[in-house]
Amino acid sequence: MPATSLDSVVSLCKRRGFIFPGSEIYGGLANTWDYGPLGVELKNNIKQLWWKTFVHKRQDMVGLDAAILMNPKVWEASGHVSNFNDPLIDCKACKQRFRGDKLLEEKLGIEAAAVLKLEQVQPMLMAEKIPCPSCGKLDWTPAKKFNLMFKTQQGVIEGEGTDIYLRPETAQGIFVNFKNVSQTTRMRLPFGVAQIGKAFRNEITPGNFTFRTREFEQMEIEYFFDATINKWEDVFAQWKKDSWSFLVDQLGINPENLRFRDHEKDELSHYSKGTTDIEYKFPWGWGELCAAAAYRTDFDLNQHQQFSGEDLQYTDPDEPTRKIIPHVMEPSYGADRIALAVLLDAFNEEKLENDTRTVLKFSDKIAPIDLAILPLSKKEHLIAKAQELYKKIIQETDLTVDFDVTGSIGKRYRRQDEIGTPICITVDFGTLGEDEAQGLKDTVTIRDRDTLQQERMSIEDLTERLARC
Ligand code: GAP
Repeated sequence: MPATSLDSVVSLCKRRGFIFPGSEIYGGLANTWDYGPLGVELKNNIKQLWWKTFVHKRQDMVGLDAAILMNPKVWEASGHVSNFNDPLIDCKACKQRFRGDKLLEEKLGIEAAAVLKLEQVQPMLMAEKIPCPSCGKLDWTPAKKFNLMFKTQQGVIEGEGTDIYLRPETAQGIFVNFKNVSQTTRMRLPFGVAQIGKAFRNEITPGNFTFRTREFEQMEIEYFFDATINKWEDVFAQWKKDSWSFLVDQLGINPENLRFRDHEKDELSHYSKGTTDIEYKFPWGWGELCAAAAYRTDFDLNQHQQFSGEDLQYTDPDEPTRKIIPHVMEPSYGADRIALAVLLDAFNEEKLENDTRTVLKFSDKIAPIDLAILPLSKKEHLIAKAQELYKKIIQETDLTVDFDVTGSIGKRYRRQDEIGTPICITVDFGTLGEDEAQGLKDTVTIRDRDTLQQERMSIEDLTERLARC
């Protein structure tokens, strides 16, 4: 089950080095977060597993890494300059600014709030008597549109640079490279291009830890297909399945905490003819985890063809006179939001016989540390034997291994449980051949994080088994 309190997860993240508040020694910068030593391993594992699943393990996919800064015309063509807006309302009393639809979500539910028209937001806030969260007054201005793109300047002379944007989605880097990719690879439709990278949005109500931030990482796929050959409904259904399977079968998220949600017509992005999100049951309620599939039609390639003047048509290799603008299916995942869901889903507080423990039950595929080696005592020759084993494992496998000598063995087990290490290996005096009661020479104890079962195994069998991981 997800943690009942977000606070417990936020505090564990800080205490154990998963996620720290950004710029903390300067008093922080609101809603920015830095991934610590364990957080970066977790997020990297999620990203690598995503890349492996969708790029390396499929013949119909290739990867790309486009620049964050793009020609400003890209955002005119994509529709982001005119359409990428949120409904904002100001409190007339204290002048604070909020997203009207978000204030209405709690009262009306996410679905009902999302489909409200701009002119309905202020009357609805007044009718529902929803006051300003800052000063408590009920005195709202009508809602206005506010563009979410971050503007900056390119150029060395103050005030004379060109206005450019930090990309609000990675997707456009893929569309503007469609011609490059299709000309330099032998990919035939249908095929997809995947990209992982930072995106930026000037969100008005960031919050709920890393759920909604202004700087975040996306993992996006633009899947190009010939709409006269492949029915979009079939491509859509397949990507819904593949997205769900990634979350459940690869990342190990409990399917009871996930659900599909189709976008209502009024809620669809300007480019989409149909979108289904996968939502996660966050401690504050159901919220968008990722877009399982969005049918972007041929909108983006057509727009870029028109705005750039470049021919972006795809030539059918079997019929070279046949040229088409492919249609696009887009599954889009937020790496930070997924990392947060994974943390919440893995978080457990368990009552043991004489104790309680906090444990992160990560899937083995994404745990930040694969295994920990714990010498039973600080005796020099015992540590030397444990170090020997540590070096052997890191040389012979790709596993991430922790070596922990600080504190009692019980405390070290609890520490490894709290950071989600699936296996602990204890090296003791039995291993050295000095105490048969602890075990036979050259054997170690292996402890499983979830079952708490301990098993004695020879080092030879252990390293052979790990080498196959
Ligand atoms: N290219 C399509 C697109 O960007 P989106 O639904 O706006 O679609 C896709 O974003 C995913 O990116 C979301 O499902 C979420 O996981 C993540 N995301 C979007 N805005 C975010 C934010 N402000 N903070 C963190 N993650 C965000």
